[in-house]
Amino acid sequence: MSKNQLYKLYEEIDDIHTDDQTSTPGRTTKKRENKRHEADVRLFVRAQEAATEFKFTYKAARFEEAWLLDSLYEIAGQQLISDVLRKVKAGKEASIYMCRSGANIDAGLIAAKVYRPRSLRNLKNDAIYRTGRTDLDADGTALFKEADVKAIMQRSKYGEELRHTSWIAYEFKTLEKLYEAGADVPKPYAMLRNSIMMEYIGDAGTAAPTLSTVRLARDEARPLFDRVIRNLDLLLSNERIHGDLSAYNILYWDGDITLIDFPQVVHPEMNPSAWVIFQRDVARVCQYFKAQGVKCDARKLATELWTAHGHKIVKEVDPSQLDADKPEDKRLWKKQQSAH
Ligand SMILES: Nc1ncnc2c1ncn2[C@@H]1O[C@H](COP(=O)(O)OP(=O)(O)O)[C@@H](O)[C@H]1O
Ligand SMILES: [Mg+2]
Repeated sequence: MSKNQLYKLYEEIDDIHTDDQTSTPGRTTKKRENKRHEADVRLFVRAQEAATEFKFTYKAARFEEAWLLDSLYEIAGQQLISDVLRKVKAGKEASIYMCRSGANIDAGLIAAKVYRPRSLRNLKNDAIYRTGRTDLDADGTALFKEADVKAIMQRSKYGEELRHTSWIAYEFKTLEKLYEAGADVPKPYAMLRNSIMMEYIGDAGTAAPTLSTVRLARDEARPLFDRVIRNLDLLLSNERIHGDLSAYNILYWDGDITLIDFPQVVHPEMNPSAWVIFQRDVARVCQYFKAQGVKCDARKLATELWTAHGHKIVKEVDPSQLDADKPEDKRLWKKQQSAH
């Protein structure tokens, strides 16, 4: 690669990182910047190699293309996908691509959720979701090595990497568990590196819209609401709370619903804020369905579901209102945790 090409690349990379969630303004030293550039150049070199074996239809910008090649070429090598057709949605933490399945998956189209490299989940309130769960490695196995736990606690670069992997592994493991249990979630196919392959909801022309954009017919709203409740109940039976449920994370297709986006799931007994998080999920679902003409009392419904599964109702501060960077909130959070 010529020097000029390299500089051009640096500019592109800088553009991408200006909205980087994890970089702390004012703390970016020259050394750190150089390191980042080196890592990005390594990514481009790997991508160039991958490009000789894997080519796809979707026309991506240069950085995105490198990132996709690096993320997906092993998956393509395992014949899980044969092509990336288009981008369905670009999110803050991940983008979803519509892919053609490879010889080893009999699906036609599949969805690839590819997490952005540096953009870890917005980690501000991440402690609230992490409490009571074991960090998982790239295979979805529990991490128990002391050095790994230390790295995560110290937020070292390696630790952040593990932390990132852990979110992805949680999403995949949850999909597997819930799909098996008969919940309305996309069928999970594979997880590799920073990507999850799953059932694609929609058709070749359009991906399923999120429920938030759909106006339901009156006679359709009630049965769909019941369906969501059934899923909430099923999740609790499997000791899971979605943690970010709303009409934005429910897809609507052919009159059916599919729950998506599970990296922040929490355990109803292991997480001290579980009841508050669960109530919020129920409240957001009710908010949407109320607007569609369904009568529902969120508080009553949440209480019924929660107690039916033998969980206790505990008074808590809403964790979404806590700011991990504020000392008084940190104290409150610690107090809340030790109370259990
Ligand atoms: N399996 C899927 N099939 C079709 N579209 C999907 C699928 N999964 C996600 N999407 C689309 O991608 C968007 C982002 O996915 P999501 O898992 O919610 O990630 P994010 O963390 O960015 O919100 C969704 O709102 C939906 O439009
Ligand atoms: Mg989402």
